[in-house]
Amino acid sequence: MLLMAQPKVDFPYGITMETLPETRDADVWETGPRLGSLAGMAETAAGGVASPAELAGLLDRHAYLCDEGLATACFLALRMGRPLFLEGEAGVGKTELAKTLARALGAPLIRLQCYEGLDASQALYDWDFPRQLLHLRAAEAAGVHDVDRLEGELYDRRFLLARPLLRALETAPSVLLVDELDRADDEFEAFLLEVLSDFTITVPELGTIRAEHPPVVVVTSNRTREVHDALKRRCLYHWLEHPSFDREVAIIRRRLPGAAERLAGQVAGAAQRLRDRDLLKPPGVAETLDWTEALVALGARELDPGTAAVTLGAVLKYREDQQRVLAGGLDALLNGG
Ligand SMILES: Nc1ncnc2c1ncn2[C@@H]1O[C@H](COP(=O)(O)OP(=O)(O)OP(=O)(O)O)[C@@H](O)[C@H]1O
Ligand SMILES: [Mg+2]
Repeated sequence: MLLMAQPKVDFPYGITMETLPETRDADVWETGPRLGSLAGMAETAAGGVASPAELAGLLDRHAYLCDEGLATACFLALRMGRPLFLEGEAGVGKTELAKTLARALGAPLIRLQCYEGLDASQALYDWDFPRQLLHLRAAEAAGVHDVDRLEGELYDRRFLLARPLLRALETAPSVLLVDELDRADDEFEAFLLEVLSDFTITVPELGTIRAEHPPVVVVTSNRTREVHDALKRRCLYHWLEHPSFDREVAIIRRRLPGAAERLAGQVAGAAQRLRDRDLLKPPGVAETLDWTEALVALGARELDPGTAAVTLGAVLKYREDQQRVLAGGLDALLNGG
């Protein structure tokens, strides 16, 4: 219903919004301008984002080119205050979307990189043991012997180290990126579920910490395993496809302005054909960009079989894939077929 209520989406791209916040370095831990509740983003100053097309324009201004499906999912995540769960092949732009969103909204990016064994003390919070010890020593030196009082002081907020999830709840506005969730264990998913359900974290010694303004949340997965339905249910889901030919050319031109138009078209065309082959690792946008950059560095204005052969390592990172492509002939790869 919400979709039907939106104004007509005008794609692709090209919308410029002069009044939007400037680009910020998204990877730093800093507090951006207070924009009010991001859940109600559309009504806030950063807001002004009234439709998926406007959001696409905003991301475009920060060099991220998305299609209508992704722009709509992202817009709805902001509007409905729900986490956006992004799945897709490697290198299709999942992580970059969260980074760009943070820049575009003028909010700090708080990133939690998932890995096997990730636990609460790395993801939620930890007690600052050395500082607690120092406090005890100082109290002892000052002759304080009231044990109950001392114990109470030790479990004060100032001795709590905020890890990414707690930090995101305490930073408004912010964009929380939970990257590559499929690498973490089931237990981690369980407590992430708790955090994403009501944006609270319970610290037994302190009580419950609640986000005044929930962060914008982007969760990514490469789908090396399925993420539980309970977690997905709390999110809006979007499968990120490889870009169309036209969009990939546009991405190359935007990211690498030094690349000739003809070269960008040839690389994008070859990348699209490589994705149709049965390869161990088909190229993502990241590899297309790497390949183009390598060609630009060599001064190439266009892609011919000889140049392709010597630069294949920029786009195919498995020996078997390279052998398969070479056996099929680079002419076929570059000219179709
Ligand atoms: N839509 C896009 N617009 C502009 N650049 C893009 C887009 N999609 C991908 N890129 C570029 O491709 C690179 C790789 O994207 P990113 O790291 O986000 O991929 P990913 O899906 O997170 O991959 P992985 O699963 O390997 O982590 C980015 O650095 C970015 O420059
Ligand atoms: Mg990534």
